[in-house]
Amino acid sequence: MNLVERAGLRLLHRLDPERAHALSIRALAMGLVPLCGPVSTPRLATRLAGLALPNPIGLAAGYDKNAEVVGPLTRAGFGFVEVGAATPLAQPGNPGPRLFRLGEDAAVINRLGFNNHGADTIARRLASVSRAVPVGLNLGANKTSDDRAADFARVLATAGPHVDFATVNVSSPNTERLRDLQGKAALSTLLAGVLATRDALARPIPVFLKIAPDLTESELADVAEVALAAPLDAVIATNTTLDRDGLLSRHRGEAGGLSGTPLFAKSTRTLARLSVLTEGRLPLIGTGGIASAEDAYQKIRAGATAVQLYTAMVYRGLSLVHEIATGLDALLARDGFANVAEATGTGREGWL
Ligand code: FNR
Repeated sequence: MNLVERAGLRLLHRLDPERAHALSIRALAMGLVPLCGPVSTPRLATRLAGLALPNPIGLAAGYDKNAEVVGPLTRAGFGFVEVGAATPLAQPGNPGPRLFRLGEDAAVINRLGFNNHGADTIARRLASVSRAVPVGLNLGANKTSDDRAADFARVLATAGPHVDFATVNVSSPNTERLRDLQGKAALSTLLAGVLATRDALARPIPVFLKIAPDLTESELADVAEVALAAPLDAVIATNTTLDRDGLLSRHRGEAGGLSGTPLFAKSTRTLARLSVLTEGRLPLIGTGGIASAEDAYQKIRAGATAVQLYTAMVYRGLSLVHEIATGLDALLARDGFANVAEATGTGREGWL
């Protein structure tokens, strides 16, 4: 992190978190944030569900919910970018305050509740950008929808032509009863609808599923079975957690999903277990608490084909992406791996 980035972050952290987030989006849109461009080496270049990634470090959903800064984000060093969640209709989300920085814990709690401009507007923005790296859309359901399962397919039908992948997000803790859709029967039906919509696109795209880190062993086994049977193209493990173990910050009692460093171990355990359950038949994306190249490398060794991050950038800025990508390249070289795929799953046992 250079001095300008450090000063910028210090300034943002004096503001209310949602205001700081909006300002960071505006700064990116205005071209005020220096971008390193796509980072790649022969060791980092990899494939995920048929997508060619320059490196395996992705931006997790929730930062650019409305696809306002897709262009700059694809030039920030990420190997792939996920925007959204988008719901069929625009909705305001939960009442504020609803976003909290937990500085001592290098964490965030959010209960935003799928605030977004709606699928039509988001699809229009996605249609107008050229994509330097693969871009995906996180699919959500409207709070007041009378058929939430159908909402995912509706968003995909609207925006699918303008993205490279889509993620079914049934794991946000901030829409009441949404996570009930992770149950075996409900999930199978929902995924069948989404995959039928995907197959009807002129250019069918890979569909991922994003799961919660709070599933029990048997719930996770059910999800793995359904994901393989569907069949899905990849699973993202994980979304935010309801756990509050070991936190120090004054905001630790706030309701919502916890992300950042305290989520790392739990989400990596979920990833490793899922890797065993799916036995390499499904690519996995490791998400949750990544703040360094070592963390990204651990996710890959626990079973991930690629990784995503969000919260660490709140504390370390966008230059962290370049640092993680180049650091990961060095770690792979150190341990004699010619590429990411060779390292995937080699450290799984330590997490079981
Ligand atoms: C998120 N996350 C998220 N996930 C998702 O699937 N759809 C969404 O709309 C959002 N929105 C969102 C908002 C905010 C403010 C945060 C902090 C997070 C979850 C995110 O994509 C990721 O799975 C978790 O945050 C864990 O990764 P990190 O942040 O620990 O790297």
